[in-house]
Amino acid sequence: SPEVLQGYLEKAELVARKASEIVDEALSKGERRDASIKGINTSDLVTETDLAVEKFVFEELRNYYPDHKFIGEESVSSGGGSCTLTDTPTWIIDPIDGTSNFVHGFPFSVISIGLAVNKELVVGVAYNFFQRQMYTARKGGGAFLNGKRISVSNVTELNKSIVITDYGSTRQDFEFIPKVEMMKALAGDPGHVHGIRTLGSAVASLCMVASGRAEAYFEYGVHCWDIAAGAVIVREAGGIAIYPTGSELDIMGRGILVAANVELAKSIVPILKHIDYPRD
Ligand code: IPD
Repeated sequence: SPEVLQGYLEKAELVARKASEIVDEALSKGERRDASIKGINTSDLVTETDLAVEKFVFEELRNYYPDHKFIGEESVSSGGGSCTLTDTPTWIIDPIDGTSNFVHGFPFSVISIGLAVNKELVVGVAYNFFQRQMYTARKGGGAFLNGKRISVSNVTELNKSIVITDYGSTRQDFEFIPKVEMMKALAGDPGHVHGIRTLGSAVASLCMVASGRAEAYFEYGVHCWDIAAGAVIVREAGGIAIYPTGSELDIMGRGILVAANVELAKSIVPILKHIDYPRD
């Protein structure tokens, strides 16, 4: 019911705000630069703060909702968690989306908390702690930025759009080359877009589309925690969130396309090249 979802949303927002105090403290102590490399790629980073925030968010939400399930970026990356979605309410968390931004102080880093019930995304909270911007949405209730209603852009032509995408944190040829080609196809002649942007945070990118400051965002290689909260926020702001091939969004499918409207999505889908990643 709307009341139950509203309750989940309010708790998630509260937890995100409290979690941001951990981040503020790390920032004030200058701890953000102490990053370790997570995978084979020097651009895939994790900090003590990512781990501390995830632990805190899990603990707080588990206290409120002991029967719910949890998926978190750092638990899964360290092998301690799984990525299975069941009908049980499941919180999907990225403690700091945009870790490289966090390390550099580039102000697009987000604490991201999404909730799926019956495998459907219903609540999204995304807090950009650098900019003190709290994006919130629940299914059927609209999307908000710091409590004010937001909505997507009304531009329908691709050549009048700003499109956000990203290289991702792994850069092997099989993925990097098609990503660059997609950017070239969008940004180059003929019929180029107003601009291509890479923000270094999937969630922040989704929030830019939700708040009408960019027309679309797509990315292959993303994980469920990079997109869960942001997809709800985009949809509730009036936009569409689908799989890059044009089919229904598959949050474990390692790809997303969001756009302000169907016209834009229809113009973008044929330009994209499918990149095959192992499912979450
Ligand atoms: C990353 C960011 C980045 C995107 C990568 C993600 P993380 O998340 O969202 O923008 O390009 O695909 O992995 O690792 O900083 O939480």
